[in-house]
Order: sequence, then C-alpha cells, then structure tokens
Amino acid sequence: MTSISYLTNTLLPLHIRRFRPSLSTLSCSLASDVDPAPNSYFPKRGQTLELVCESLAFKGKGLCKVTQTGFVVLCDRALPGEHFIGRVTRKKGNYAEVTKVKTITPPRDIVDAPCVYAPYCGGCKTQNLSYEAQLRAKEEQVRDLLIHVGKFSLQHLQLHAVLKPIVPCRIQFHYRNKMEFSFGPQRWLPKESLQDRIVDDDANENYALGLHAPGFFDKILNVDNCLLQSHPANKVLAAVQECWRDPQLGFSPYNVHSHKGFLKHLMLRTGRDVTTDQPEVMVNFVTSSYKPELLKFLVDKVSVFPEVVSVINNVNTSVGNTSVGEEEYTLYGKSSITETLRGLTFQISANSFFQTNTYQAEVLYKLIEDCAGVKGDDSEIVLDLFCGTGTIGLTLARSVRHVYGYEVVPQAITDARLNAKINGIQNATFVQGDLNKIDENFGKNFPKPDIVISGFIALSFLIPTYSYVICISLN
Ligand SMILES: C[S@@+](CC[C@H](N)C(=O)[O-])C[C@H]1O[C@@H](n2cnc3c(N)ncnc32)[C@H](O)[C@@H]1O
Repeated sequence: MTSISYLTNTLLPLHIRRFRPSLSTLSCSLASDVDPAPNSYFPKRGQTLELVCESLAFKGKGLCKVTQTGFVVLCDRALPGEHFIGRVTRKKGNYAEVTKVKTITPPRDIVDAPCVYAPYCGGCKTQNLSYEAQLRAKEEQVRDLLIHVGKFSLQHLQLHAVLKPIVPCRIQFHYRNKMEFSFGPQRWLPKESLQDRIVDDDANENYALGLHAPGFFDKILNVDNCLLQSHPANKVLAAVQECWRDPQLGFSPYNVHSHKGFLKHLMLRTGRDVTTDQPEVMVNFVTSSYKPELLKFLVDKVSVFPEVVSVINNVNTSVGNTSVGEEEYTLYGKSSITETLRGLTFQISANSFFQTNTYQAEVLYKLIEDCAGVKGDDSEIVLDLFCGTGTIGLTLARSVRHVYGYEVVPQAITDARLNAKINGIQNATFVQGDLNKIDENFGKNFPKPDIVISGFIALSFLIPTYSYVICISLN
C-alpha cells in the first residue's frame, strides 16, 4: 500500500475562495486610463489593462486574467481582490507581466504592514496581507501544485485526506534564523523618496547595506532593522550600519558591475546555546579578498555583544552574487553555532543548510513523525532524500532500525555525520550523491525502505511556514 501525506501549517483546507470579478465590477472601467479591448489574445508590451487579482501565484505575484480573453498576467504586489490598472512590461510565452499603475479598489484582507520598508523591499512582498489570507493563499498554491504537477484530482485530495491542513506559525515576525544583507555602492531609493538622495553620487553616505529591491540583483535598499530576524541579529546590523561608511575605516562596498570593492555580504545566523537556551549569533562577513587587519574594526565592533559567539569571514573572489566563500576564516569565537530541535543538538556552520524557521521546523518534524506512522519498535528503514544536514532523519533515528540519508552537497553530509555523532546516533548513514542522476541500481544501496522522506519541495516564499514534505510509506 502506498500512502502519501502532505504536511504544512494550518486550518481551512477545503474552503477555497477564488475571486471572480462580477460583470458589474468590470464594467466600471476607467476609459481614459485603459487601452481599448485587446483584439489579440496576447497583450502588447506597454498596453494598459484593467485587472482584478484572483489569487497569489509563485513568488507571491498577483495572478490576474484579461477579462475578454482569459490570458494570464502576473503583477508584483497585486493582492487577491485588488482591482487595478496594470501596464504590460514583459511577455513570456503563455503569460505576461504587468506593473501596477493605479489601484481602483483595494485588496481584500489588507492590513497595515508593520515594517517601514515593506512597500519596496524584496524581503517581504505580502506583509500587507493578513496572515490568515497568506495562509489561505499558500495552501491554495500547494493544492494547485498537487493537482497540476502531481496529477492528483481534487476529489482524490479531499477523499483521501492527502492534503493536510496548513499549520500557522505561532509568531509572524523575528522568526528567521538566517538573513543575508548585501553591500553596494549606491543605495536604491523608491521613486517617491528620490529627493532624499545625497547629491554627491560618490559620497559614502550613498553606500547601501540591506536587501535587494524585488527582482534586482544590483539594487539594494538600505535596511537598518529587519522584522524577520532575531533581536540580537538586529543589534548587530545596527552596529555595522552605524560605522562602516566612515571613510577613515577604508571599507568599500562590492560593485556587482565593476567587480571592485571589498565588502560583499553580511550574513547573520541565530541559534541557541544548548545549555543556557540563550540566543547565539554568528556574524559572517563575506568579502572579495582576505584582509583580516581591515576587518578588525568591524569584528571588534560586533563581538562586544554577548550573543555574538562567532565571527566568520568567507572570502569569495568570484564575480557572482553568492555568499558562499572559497575560503573560510574564524575571526572571533567558534566556527559554528548550535540549535536544538526535538531534543537533538545540531551544529550550524556558516554555509550549512538549516530550516530557516526554527519554531516551525520543530512543528514540521513532529508532523513528519506523526505522518510517517513510525511503529517505534526499531524495525523500520527510513530513506531521507535531499537530507541536507540530516535533521529529519536524525529525529526519526531514535525509533527506527536505520536511516539512510542522501544529499548532493559534501559539506552538508559532513555536518549530518557530525550531527549524528554529537547526538550519539549510530544507526544513520549519510551518503553524498546527486539524486538527479540515480539509476535502477540506486535501491541496491540500502535495505527496502519502509518510510521515504523527500525534503526538497519547499515553497517558503510567502510566510513563515513550511510548505510541504511528502512521506511515502511503502508497506
Ligand atoms: C530544502 S533542503 C532540505 C534539507 C533537509 N531535508 C531539511 O529539512 O533540513 C533541500 C536539500 O536538497 C539538496 N539537493 C538539491 N538538489 C539535490 C540533488 N540533485 N541531489 C541531492 N540533494 C540535492 C540541497 O543541497 C538541500 O540540502
């Protein structure tokens, strides 16, 4: 028998509300702003359309359909129920992208976004949508994926309870244990704030440290405080912001166009001391070259915080935008931080994968255990595919015969083995390999599994919840 269980976070699974604009809504068109009804199925670039956002699509973009033709258009920051005028900016095969020109009727379920950067920042795109509506939207996306990609019928999903209710996170802010801010030579300002620009374009005051404007690798919105990360991590961000532009210190931000400059990224990770339960923070300066004497000022500045237990320097000489360094140096304290999940201790190094929402990881892993229906008699074999640092498999290892974990990143496999050792787990084997390249011999590498966990399909772009994990019980 094969049973597939879908896990995520919350209620309301079957209550699907799709907004279909009524004819009366659409007939109130603003004739002067909107181009005449399209005579072609494909809208033209630059054309203005009157649209109603039906739902949220992948990456949180508002999904709309051209009334006359049903052609799909996506709009950044359009929210369900919003009636607006959009201009076509890009055509892509069977859909087009539009930018919002003017809102006619505001979205349903709108709330005041608590973050001042929310209207412009690429970090959170739907903060002004109520959390309940975000959950509904996310659940709807996963259900649509199961139907369109997974080929389940809606009836099957409902009848066999394949789709479990989404589970909300108990906190909506300060939940992320990892944030990566970028340095840049020119802070990006939204149109309405351009008057705040400092006239001398070369002034250090124009340097940016923050998050990217949505969809732009080279536009950085300066951010002094981020509601996604922990409070200690925000103290570190503020301390760096306060000083790094001082010309006397000699720091230069990396320019992604000219490939010149020293500071590339500031990565902040928050874990917990396993004995005191207090937060511990890792600060990782990603630079284009190794200059520890130059970084010393910043290292001293951030290491005064008692929560900062590790300051790392990843040196990345490549022109790409990645924060993973070719070389890694520990400039202060430890080379890793720790976190506890389901009674186990995990070591997290600068670049190891760890679920970014620790609160929901705890909930998720408990759900996986429940869903997998582990018998608890040490008889079962678990196959943990895309195992990362082995966290899921290791939480199950205590009640099964053996766990086999597969993962492509060698460092993650090293971490998984270390995590097994730290927790005294001997019945787990972690193997490095590319699961896209397996052949019919793959199954000969381990005994026939009773439970298979596939931990790769993650859509954590909307809200602080986990998307889904599929447990396939093969017996
Ligand atoms: C979202 S993480 C999940 C990790 C882990 N299951 C967990 O919950 O912590 C996905 C993992 O899949 C790994 N991965 C991606 N493509 C892979 C492939 N082709 N073969 C093996 N592992 C892969 C990534 O390196 C990453 O560690």
